[in-house]
Amino acid sequence: MTSHRPTRRGRIRIRLPLRRGESGRLEWVSPVHRKPVVQPVHFTPLGPDDPEVISAFPHLSPKLQKAAQTSWKALARVLHPPGRRLVGRFVEQATVEHISVPIRGLEAGFDGYTIAFLSDIHAGPYLKADALRKLFAKVSAEKPDLIVLGGDLVNYDADEADEVAAALKQLHARDGVLSVLGNHDHYTGAVASVVSQIEHSGARYLVNDSLSISRRGDHLAILGVDDGGAGRFDLARARARARETRTSVLLSHTPDALPLASRIGIDLVVSGHTHGGQLRAPKFPPISTHTRGRFVDGFYRFGPTTVFVGRGVGVVCVPMRAFCPPHVPFLHLHALPRAAAGNRGRAIV
Ligand SMILES: [Fe+2]
Repeated sequence: MTSHRPTRRGRIRIRLPLRRGESGRLEWVSPVHRKPVVQPVHFTPLGPDDPEVISAFPHLSPKLQKAAQTSWKALARVLHPPGRRLVGRFVEQATVEHISVPIRGLEAGFDGYTIAFLSDIHAGPYLKADALRKLFAKVSAEKPDLIVLGGDLVNYDADEADEVAAALKQLHARDGVLSVLGNHDHYTGAVASVVSQIEHSGARYLVNDSLSISRRGDHLAILGVDDGGAGRFDLARARARARETRTSVLLSHTPDALPLASRIGIDLVVSGHTHGGQLRAPKFPPISTHTRGRFVDGFYRFGPTTVFVGRGVGVVCVPMRAFCPPHVPFLHLHALPRAAAGNRGRAIV
């Protein structure tokens, strides 16, 4: 499936993979070098029988993986005092953003339904539990219908979840708190321990599974998948366990699941993972979003399916954000008649 869309400096041409193992190409004109760029695009999530990825550096030998982890921890120790101050301040300044999400055919019972999305917390050396507690109290005070934790609760160590688990108990919403897993939760090598902390805090772990929420006789299906890069992503299983409803929302740490979600008729995908680029400069694309440049933040469309990509709360690698403030999006679902013109978002096909 190929498409062309104009950009300020040329045209962008995308061929997206649709199946596991299928690859494609992203062709675009770099606004920095003003030259055509061709990037390979792969979405090859692990299957249910594949071992999970337990390192951020799976392409390195075990010895080098260990060295990379040790260097990372040493760097975190050096940057710890200023990093903790900086990141604590970012988190305290994180704002709740109210965002309207029109959905075609949304049933009346869910018109105005609000999902608060907390992703990429990255509890660890730089994050203070105090700052998180304040943020979570602020989120609960706004009374969303549902709170979703979008993955990457921790950085590289399952113990990092200990501190944040108590803070998670501050989160309250009428339909509860749901959580999916991100790549960093798997990099701990002890994902069961992260899951147990999530569940201990009262949140429901929703991975390759689904649940149905009812309002005045109407139903909304919420599906959750494991991370598409490091976990055992199984959208088919989540779909099979979902009740037939007119509207369905998929929680997926990585927005790369969008084409597959579109294929099974999901209306809205809610994702994080990119941190919005984390370090940005005005008028330049972010250096890295870990989605090969396809997704940064905001809305994107693939056929009838929209993905919302949040910038998240925490940081990874360096204790810094630039031109990319953390946020907690409150997604307010609104009904559009079935025949109305498309959902919002930049079309990528
Ligand atoms: Fe993250």
